[in-house]
Amino acid sequence: MQKGANVVGIDRDYKPESMIHELKADAELIEGTIEDLDLMISIIRDRKIEFVFHLAAQSIVGTANSNPLDTFKSNIEGTWNVLEAARQLGQASDIADRRLRGIILASSDKAYGDQDVLPYIEDAPMQGRFPYDVSKSCADLIARSYFLSYKVPVCVTRCGNLFGAGDLNLSRIVPDTLTHVLRGEPVTIRSNGKPVRDYLYIKDAVNAYLMLAERMWNDSSVHGEAFNISNQAPMSVLECVDKILAVVGREDLKPIIQGTATREIEEQFLDATKINTVLGWKPQYDFTAGLKETVGWYKDLVKGRNSVASIS
Ligand SMILES: NC(=O)c1ccc[n+]([C@@H]2O[C@H](COP(=O)([O-])OP(=O)(O)OC[C@H]3O[C@@H](n4cnc5c(N)ncnc54)[C@H](O)[C@@H]3O)[C@@H](O)[C@H]2O)c1
Repeated sequence: MQKGANVVGIDRDYKPESMIHELKADAELIEGTIEDLDLMISIIRDRKIEFVFHLAAQSIVGTANSNPLDTFKSNIEGTWNVLEAARQLGQASDIADRRLRGIILASSDKAYGDQDVLPYIEDAPMQGRFPYDVSKSCADLIARSYFLSYKVPVCVTRCGNLFGAGDLNLSRIVPDTLTHVLRGEPVTIRSNGKPVRDYLYIKDAVNAYLMLAERMWNDSSVHGEAFNISNQAPMSVLECVDKILAVVGREDLKPIIQGTATREIEEQFLDATKINTVLGWKPQYDFTAGLKETVGWYKDLVKGRNSVASIS
């Protein structure tokens, strides 16, 4: 919106406390599911959509493990609907319906599954094994298929753990740790604390998405490509929690390590050479700098100031 775009959002579930409502005056927010192909076609055609950021997904690994069907429907069927809508409109007889210039699909580092070679590079095969990972591997492959078969102008992004103000998925490690320590409680870590992951500040991710969109708009040679987005500073869950404790000044609140998480890949992190080279994207924040910008929003959240009466 700051770049002058008219923005239309579609979500199945607008949470009352979501920051998205701050955009209501200037963006159109539609309640609906991407599992509905007709809805996808009509929104893209009738709103004259020129670019799609396809972010909607069941994005929580634990929920995917307990509810695979909903995850596969949102993440796989939803993705093929977005791409199929683009394919059908790309072949429309009326030129006014053929406005869509690009789609960015939010895939994930999880789409790679477990790999022998670290850090992951874009050419590595998609080999997720657990429900969330498989949903992202499939979505990623379907995007490639729509590009190769029908020239649908799609690119794929793959990030590790994103964090920043506004993330209401409180089971994720950064929101979980912040909300606990800001209430003066230790966080419980489900894993053994050793899994190694990337952590990327949301503003760096947004910047990468916008740079990619602008390139796709002007240069069709990047269509069909996948890009890792990473600050290339992976750390273990325990290191991540320690850094949060240091920023909040509560090193006394040592985490409780449960060690019960299953279906976890031990180490996964991304090589970002391609996005650095092709787009010139570089992260502006390290973990601590991003976290310092994030803490205030969670302080308000735990105090009930972000339109959230209380959180459990
Ligand atoms: N947050 C991360 O760490 C991370 C990392 C890598 C990739 N991703 C991917 O980036 C995207 C955005 O992630 P996020 O953290 O903002 O997730 P999020 O869970 O905060 O937001 C996803 C939104 O999609 C909506 N949604 C789910 N199923 C839908 C459906 N069938 N129809 C319409 N809306 C639906 C949900 O209501 C939710 O508002 C997702 O595709 C996610 O898989 C996220």
